[in-house]
Amino acid sequence: MRIGILTGGGDCPGLNAVIRSVVRSASAHYGSAVIGFRDGWRGLLEDRTTPLDVTAVDGLLTRGGTTLGSARVAPERLRSGVPSMKGVLAAHGIDVLVPIGGEGTLTAAHLLSQAGVPVVGIPKTIDNDIDGTDLTFGFDTAVSIATDLIDRLHTTAESHQRVLLVEVMGRHAGWIALHAGLASGAHLTLVPEEPFDVDEVVRIVCERFDRGDSHVIGVVAEGAVPLPGHMPLRDGGTDEFGHRRFTGVAQQLGAELERRTGKEVRATVLGHVQRGGTPTSFDRVLATRFGLHATIAAHEGRHGQMVALRGTEIDLVPLADAVARLKTVTPSRLAETGAFTG
Ligand code: F6P
Repeated sequence: MRIGILTGGGDCPGLNAVIRSVVRSASAHYGSAVIGFRDGWRGLLEDRTTPLDVTAVDGLLTRGGTTLGSARVAPERLRSGVPSMKGVLAAHGIDVLVPIGGEGTLTAAHLLSQAGVPVVGIPKTIDNDIDGTDLTFGFDTAVSIATDLIDRLHTTAESHQRVLLVEVMGRHAGWIALHAGLASGAHLTLVPEEPFDVDEVVRIVCERFDRGDSHVIGVVAEGAVPLPGHMPLRDGGTDEFGHRRFTGVAQQLGAELERRTGKEVRATVLGHVQRGGTPTSFDRVLATRFGLHATIAAHEGRHGQMVALRGTEIDLVPLADAVARLKTVTPSRLAETGAFTG
């Protein structure tokens, strides 16, 4: 069998571990060949490939990023490109395509699957917002990095009796904010799923200082928004992929808090550091298991599916179900922070 593989969307720690896993398991268990498409769907649209053998994936387990390169491609280009992608796959004799990516990549995978291409998807995103899987690899690494950095902010905030707002990634889902906030003992967690009440944030900050606390740490997901009419938030419009352009919610909330509380406030944006570098051991294992089970599914003809973590086991879920909605933070998960914040 010949397997085609590509990594799409924003990169994420563990991508290289998956590529290695697919290549090694395809070779060891089935004697199959793996061909990589460069820069995500763009490489498939433009017919840019690289052969991947066991030697080529040597040392990839621990390396961040993706050796295949990645890119975002506008949904319209993907939709209109289906016939030419099918042509490229046929020309390379690809029997099954294994796209690794987040919502956009898996939606494109579903599109190709509906067009008759045998596909097995692998979910990845530091945001952990893919439905149908308990976790995506990259998330644990991002939370570990954010937690480590927030731990450091506690000490400097304490020294200066400041409010420190830490902006973490999380476009539509606040999983990184929720987990990094819990892990680092943040006093405030704001997520995109629940527009925040600025009066409430002001109250929490004032009460903490009134009680004699030395500082306040707030974790703010980049996609968090205030309740309508509470505070102006600059509109950055949308980019060519239809994504909202963020304008720095932590910075803007910080200015509002400083004005209303008289306390010194600093905002720290963690940004792409959350996506860089080597994956945690948890993500290496999850990525390796996803790669192995995707390879098995490809050879067993279980196509149009995505590998998923359910409890401790790796399962398959239909791509159609996985892309039907995003997995966002539930009110009950958010309520769990109640005893530890405020
Ligand atoms: O989807 C993953 C993610 O890291 C989001 O959390 C973030 O909003 C986005 O990618 C950033 O994208 P880019 O690297 O294209 O700026």
